[in-house]
Amino acid sequence: MWPASLAGGSRPFLLVLAICLDLNELKIVMAENKKQATWGGRFSEGPNELMQTFSESVSFDARLAPYDIEGSLAHARMLKKVGLLTEEELTSLETGFAEVMKDIIDGKLEWDPALEDVHMNIEQALTQKTPVAAKLHMGRSRNDQVATDMRLYFRETCLEIIHQGILPVQEVLLELAEDFQDVIIPGYTHLQRAQPVSVAHHFLAYVEMFNRDEIRFFRVMESAQVCPLGSGAIAGTTLPIDREYAAELLRFTGPDGIPMITYNSMDAVSDRDVFIEFLSACALCGVHFSRLAEDLILWCSSEFNFIRLPDAFTTGSSLMPQKKNPDSLELLRGKAARLQGNLQTMLTMVKGLPLTYNRDLQEDKPPVFDSADTTLMCLEVLAGTLHGASMNEDACAKAVSDPLLLATDLADYLVLRGLPFRQAHHAVGAMVAASEETNTPLNELSDDVAKEICPSLGDDWRDVFDLKRAFAAREKPGMPGPQQIKEQIEDWKEKVEDDRDMYTVEEE
Ligand code: ARG
Repeated sequence: MWPASLAGGSRPFLLVLAICLDLNELKIVMAENKKQATWGGRFSEGPNELMQTFSESVSFDARLAPYDIEGSLAHARMLKKVGLLTEEELTSLETGFAEVMKDIIDGKLEWDPALEDVHMNIEQALTQKTPVAAKLHMGRSRNDQVATDMRLYFRETCLEIIHQGILPVQEVLLELAEDFQDVIIPGYTHLQRAQPVSVAHHFLAYVEMFNRDEIRFFRVMESAQVCPLGSGAIAGTTLPIDREYAAELLRFTGPDGIPMITYNSMDAVSDRDVFIEFLSACALCGVHFSRLAEDLILWCSSEFNFIRLPDAFTTGSSLMPQKKNPDSLELLRGKAARLQGNLQTMLTMVKGLPLTYNRDLQEDKPPVFDSADTTLMCLEVLAGTLHGASMNEDACAKAVSDPLLLATDLADYLVLRGLPFRQAHHAVGAMVAASEETNTPLNELSDDVAKEICPSLGDDWRDVFDLKRAFAAREKPGMPGPQQIKEQIEDWKEKVEDDRDMYTVEEE
């Protein structure tokens, strides 16, 4: 079940989104090559301009601002609790942070690459608001700060992917399954026609896959649910901090409400497992939407002609006037490759890293942000494409009318008449060969020919070639019988609706 501690947010969800959008149009100012304000104490000159450009991360990590402020507020409140800040100092910091946040939302904060990253930019902005800012960094380091920010980010982003991406796709798949419940198509193995299936069964297969994705993103949220704050740069701090309290404030708590903190400061500042888990969840979700895209691309070709896609998610050709291309689906297939690349990037980044934090790890964020944005957009595009799609029922009926699709059912029929399956399989194979040789549909072979090949056939053997009968015989769990499908659609609809409520972020 969804722990209540994960569901709450200390920031309104939509506000955070608005900030992220705003940050897409970051105002970045190139500062003069000045002495670095936060760590410049031992340096006689500032970094080379090229080095500044090379090493800054604020151009991409500014989107962590809401999480950074949330983490800093918890840290400050903890410092006050243990007596390292006075009540007045805390109030001053809280007011300062509220103003910084407002400046960010209003687009007034000028992100300065000379200050390297989001953490130092925010600290600098806070310094403009209150001199107490100089005390804020006691007992922590950017190493445990960034690890905390990212855990907060994962918690919220997984929720967003489930809520805005996965559930809507499942909903539209269920709508299609319901609307075209009676449409039967050939099911394929080896891309050869195999056995008839209802198109609903096909769509429900993807509902299953996306359900596993949902569970996977949920598990990433659980993995993220541990607080690294207090690990410092590598070896904690000599100051009398209260790690559990900070964790509690940030709702890094287990299902029982117990604060969850990391237990090894060296691991905590260099651990990027949850990044890999997240990228892996995105990559696998990509595999699923890419496979669905491929099925649909085949289905909308003239050769299959099973489905019609909405104009809004297809494109024309600049040369061939008749073309309607499934570009949205092809792009989904292409972008799935990018998600796999991002996972590979992260795995490679950490495989040879000595403990503990190394600056390489700053490069952990672009692939994560890219995978999050790409996954979400792909799921939205998929939902949009599916939304206006409709099945071409005539073409489906024509494709599924091939009696060979029920050759296995004929073997089953013989088994029920007492023939061992291998013999039944062999006999039906021989009938198929005879039908091909004489260019006669399998169910139109004469009784003489058929019974000569297989004396076990009864007079009713042609009844097997009735699709209704074939599906009525498939009512065991997991099979495409109409009653099964009906129940599954209902069950899934209920589950998706429940999940929508469960994964909703409370707004303040
Ligand atoms: N921008 C840095 C990153 O994302 C923050 C941590 C910097 N730590 C350090 N020791 N330089 O990795």
